[in-house]
Amino acid sequence: MDDPSIARFADYLTEQWFEREDIHNYLEPFSHCLQTVLQDKLYGQHLVLRAVVNHVRAHFENKHPPKALTLSFHGGIGTGKSYTAKIIADHLFKGGMTSPFVHLISASKEFRRKDMIDVYRDQIHNWIETNISVCSRSLFIFDEMDKMPAGLLDTIKPYLDFYQQIGGIDYRKATFLFLSNSAGRQITDFTYKQLKSNVSRESIKLKDMQNIILNQIGNEDISRFQIIIPFLPLEKRHVKRCIQDAMEAREYFISESIVQEVMDEIVFYPQDEKIFTVTGCKKVSDKMEYVMFS
Ligand SMILES: Nc1ncnc2c1ncn2[C@@H]1O[C@H](COP(=O)(O)OP(=O)(O)OP(=O)(O)O)[C@@H](O)[C@H]1O
Ligand SMILES: [Mg+2]
Repeated sequence: MDDPSIARFADYLTEQWFEREDIHNYLEPFSHCLQTVLQDKLYGQHLVLRAVVNHVRAHFENKHPPKALTLSFHGGIGTGKSYTAKIIADHLFKGGMTSPFVHLISASKEFRRKDMIDVYRDQIHNWIETNISVCSRSLFIFDEMDKMPAGLLDTIKPYLDFYQQIGGIDYRKATFLFLSNSAGRQITDFTYKQLKSNVSRESIKLKDMQNIILNQIGNEDISRFQIIIPFLPLEKRHVKRCIQDAMEAREYFISESIVQEVMDEIVFYPQDEKIFTVTGCKKVSDKMEYVMFS
């Protein structure tokens, strides 16, 4: 869509859609609700809670944001990155992940072949431009960013910058979430060191963790555009709550002995101290079903 008048019309339709949804009255309670759900249901991630709620709220309450909101989630397996992305989608769009304005792409599934980079580049351009033409507030979730072939990220960069328009389209109202496991090991090491120095988990500072991640990913260029959100490794107390949630979701009676049996199935490390889970809460449902049926 190169014609600016068509782009303006598309933008107008989007605004109309949001007006119809009564977004200006609807944003305030919805933001509080996002905060409440993250507070109640996302365990052990105080850095995520504050940063996500503030940035999402600021972006969606601003009718003319200066640039697209780009949040980059980093952390180990099962620490809640996809879960948080889903909660954000649920609170921004009717139908959540199934909304026509929410788009999920998995790097390892979609961009497998290194020899097809040019094709992928065109696909990404088309995909972003077409979807933003339909709804300027579109949410794009790029999962497994660490598996994205080198060079493809450059394709997305122009959409994240402060440009007023590219090819007649304004990208600044969009939201991009990048999910990756990169720097997971460094996040864990730092968390471990803090705990060992008697610094509580909740006292870990966002800035410190962001610097550690930045040092690791070493991509100064892209980090200019994105806000880094660290997901800390989960501990026993968090996994217990995940088990209880999984049992509640299946409407099982929650007994302490069953929770403990499931806990016994979960692998913790370091081997001698058993502080953090290896796979976060990712395998909790499977383990819980296994225990219930054995
Ligand atoms: N911090 C958390 N608080 C509450 N539940 C969690 C948390 N982390 C994970 N879970 C639970 O575990 C499931 C799997 O987590 P999720 O898919 O978000 O992991 P992930 O960080 O995306 O992992 P991966 O890097 O492997 O993609 C979630 O659907 C949720 O039920
Ligand atoms: Mg995930």
